[in-house]
Amino acid sequence: MERRKFIKTASLTGVGLTLGSTLLNCDETVSEKITEQHSEAINDLYGIPLVVATWHVENATAKAMEILQAGGNALDAVEQGCRVEEADAKGQTVGKGGLPDREGNVTLDASIMDKHGNCGSVVYLQNVTHAVSVARKVMEETPHVMLAGEGAKQFALSKGFQSEDLLTEASKNAWEKWKINAQYQPIINIENHDTIGMLAIDKNGDISGACTTSGLAYKMEGRVGDSPIIGSGLFIDNDIGGCVATGLGEEVVKTVGSFLVVELMRQGKSPQQACEEAIGRIVNKPNSDYKNFQVGYVAVNKQGETGCYSIHQNFNMTKFQDGVNTQIQSDYFNKA
Ligand code: GLY
Repeated sequence: MERRKFIKTASLTGVGLTLGSTLLNCDETVSEKITEQHSEAINDLYGIPLVVATWHVENATAKAMEILQAGGNALDAVEQGCRVEEADAKGQTVGKGGLPDREGNVTLDASIMDKHGNCGSVVYLQNVTHAVSVARKVMEETPHVMLAGEGAKQFALSKGFQSEDLLTEASKNAWEKWKINAQYQPIINIENHDTIGMLAIDKNGDISGACTTSGLAYKMEGRVGDSPIIGSGLFIDNDIGGCVATGLGEEVVKTVGSFLVVELMRQGKSPQQACEEAIGRIVNKPNSDYKNFQVGYVAVNKQGETGCYSIHQNFNMTKFQDGVNTQIQSDYFNKA
């Protein structure tokens, strides 16, 4: 860990500063040498597994890290990590136990993306807990990227997934209570836990990501959010990094949020700077109603640097690296 910190500091400050001044002096020989040192330092960061996720999901990141530590790949790690949350019937925003739409249907959206840029997703999936695994099957066992509704369900059943009732007593009771007034309003932070988006870097330095959600509570029947839309809820470019989103999906879709974050990193921004700029694109729109909704991003770059940022407070990222599985409180835009 200490060595890693030293390498990181050296690569980002000492070497970087020296590199900068050397380039200014136009000394090509020294510059090339330092560029080599710099890239060696960055390369040394490869092979150190990392998992980050939206919200407070230490059990999920622990599962993902267990896979990475055993030499598993990032794709298996993010799938297995997301499954932990999907299986937790107490969680009312993902998988089994998710809050239903206004008609009482629990409908799930999920996506997954690998190091090659392959991706799969499911939208409006009912009666199957592990939407993220169905998304992976779409990616690996069909010529398509996205399956929806009954087609997604039938595909899942054909692949051996079990059909089950996802509406728990607790979620049914909450829905019955909501129906008394039946007022639909996006809630800024749903109990500090919403869409689970996860990014992992494995021992080979390869990146994968996944996203899973039951979407907005009491949404209109048929509504789909950002999570299954590649580039919005999730985007991975194994040469650059990855990003996942949480919060009000409509606003993420309108700015193609996760793709934007990755492209900003490609242009040289750090994951933190990229997340902040992507939130800026939402809140700085003319007539933005940002005071009434939440969006949060979590990003990682190829060097293993991470960032997170949200519109409002109380968003956090869970990060597991170097044996430490911890929550990091996100900085946020709306400090007024
Ligand atoms: N971010 C999840 C959704 O809007 O459905």
